[in-house]
Amino acid sequence: MSLDTLLDGKYLVVTGGSSGIGKEIVEQASYAGAKVLFTYNTGDNRALEIAGRTGSDSLKLTLGDQDSTRMFLTIISKQIDYFIANAGMELSGDLRKHTYDKINSVISANLTGNLYLLQELIIGQHMAQNGQIAVIGSIAADGNHDQLAYSSSKAGLRAAIETLSRYDSSVKRQNLGIKLIEPAFVRTGMTERFLPVIERLVRKKGGDQLLQEFRDRFVMEPKDAASRILNLTTDQNVVGVRQIPEFANLHRIRETYF
Ligand SMILES: NC(=O)c1ccc[n+]([C@@H]2O[C@H](COP(=O)([O-])OP(=O)(O)OC[C@H]3O[C@@H](n4cnc5c(N)ncnc54)[C@H](OP(=O)(O)O)[C@@H]3O)[C@@H](O)[C@H]2O)c1
Repeated sequence: MSLDTLLDGKYLVVTGGSSGIGKEIVEQASYAGAKVLFTYNTGDNRALEIAGRTGSDSLKLTLGDQDSTRMFLTIISKQIDYFIANAGMELSGDLRKHTYDKINSVISANLTGNLYLLQELIIGQHMAQNGQIAVIGSIAADGNHDQLAYSSSKAGLRAAIETLSRYDSSVKRQNLGIKLIEPAFVRTGMTERFLPVIERLVRKKGGDQLLQEFRDRFVMEPKDAASRILNLTTDQNVVGVRQIPEFANLHRIRETYF
């Protein structure tokens, strides 16, 4: 079945739809005929513009804030066919830059916030029978240079998705598909500072040819990442942990390219 057929007339909710990958998901799903609700955090003006252009609805949600999450779920009245937990924040820097407060805010948004959201979504029976839930992790869950808190938060999501998709009785009863999708590199606001640094390292190691190979294999434009995520989300045969591109491993990428 084509992606458009799988999305047409379905109710899709995506967090962090106000920029980057999430914004592309809102656009592609809306244009394919899905009824889309997306969340934003600080980007109210961007959200207004995207909602107006795509005919989707937007709501404010601050991940890690219990009241905000509860309010968000109260407002959702329809059964959700596809839920994409995409919102997240990044933190790069050596251990001195990982202050207690910064570690806390990354873990709170990316891990605690998503765990609470998933728990409420499942026990509150907000999903349609056979609904599909995709959480956006990262290959940084393998462990990454200067990303202690970010990598840890994404590794925590791996364990959460394994727990829910393999063992949870509510998930089984509702016949939900639960998956973690871990992108390699996507050109968004999140990576605009460090991706050019990595690309310079790749060129230094192997010139333009190695850089081209790295880009072709592991760097996606948001449009491409969004369509891969939508394909995996809507596929009922996909459960558990998947990388995009398939089987990407950050340690092997680092050893080969930079
Ligand atoms: N870009 C990559 O290379 C890459 C690679 C692997 C995984 N990922 C993951 O992909 C997801 C999307 O990333 P992106 O690159 O598209 O980033 P982005 O452009 O920075 O977008 C992040 C989105 O998350 C929202 N958000 C951030 N903190 C939030 C919070 N505390 N509560 C609620 N919403 C929050 C933002 O909302 P506002 O803008 O409205 O504040 C925005 O809509 C993230 O989970 C990221 O970790 C990205």
